[in-house]
Amino acid sequence: MKLNSIAIDGPAGAGKSTIARKVAEQLGFIYVDTGAMYRAMALFMEQNHVEPSDQDAVSRACRRADISIAYQDGAQVTLLDGVNVNAMIRTEQISRMASVFSANGDVRKRLVELQQKLAQETPVVMDGRDIGTVVLPDAVCKIYLTASVRVRAERRLKEDLARGTQTTLTELEQEIAERDERDCHRAISPLRQADDAVLLDTSELTIGEVTDRILACYRNAAASAGLTI
Ligand code: DC
Repeated sequence: MKLNSIAIDGPAGAGKSTIARKVAEQLGFIYVDTGAMYRAMALFMEQNHVEPSDQDAVSRACRRADISIAYQDGAQVTLLDGVNVNAMIRTEQISRMASVFSANGDVRKRLVELQQKLAQETPVVMDGRDIGTVVLPDAVCKIYLTASVRVRAERRLKEDLARGTQTTLTELEQEIAERDERDCHRAISPLRQADDAVLLDTSELTIGEVTDRILACYRNAAASAGLTI
């Protein structure tokens, strides 16, 4: 039986969260940003001075971290020990740490359980790196979103400038290439396209075009699977 949810995977900066949010809005599904959960976990590790190389400390800490998701005015709020950490998890430092800690099996086990629980409660549009392959293998519609490193760095630069963060295109290209390397080559749940995922390269497409393609893909898949939509 297929799960009435959409799994969106892809590398950093491919446009997953913007697109996933729009698709969820259109369908009345809940949007779950799993990257934010890995970021909150990285923040917890930083606050508790846990080194990624100290396996025992990482295992103990990730069991203590209380990470959850709430919704305010339709937007996802990521809570760490009940505190909204949205404003603290978008720095380059936390991006790097989230990528490093997300390679840890205990961290992944903890967050995957939470993500699967959310999808059992309600239809979701969930984005991340392992959603189609590990978290929601039965999702009726799976999308692999990608874009060139240059385009992804340009998008990040725009976001950073809007936030007032000083970065350069070269720095961001390097940072993105390093994260791709780590996310795609880690031993546990590396980023890869699920065999039954539809590949969408967003380099030359507008947000509206990508959203429409995913909606069409979902409607076709849901109809073939006999789901009522
Ligand atoms: O999507 P993002 O940039 O917010 O994700 C932050 C990091 O978390 C990213 O480098 C990889 C990791 N991540 C993961 O391993 N699995 C997921 N489902 C989501 C994110």
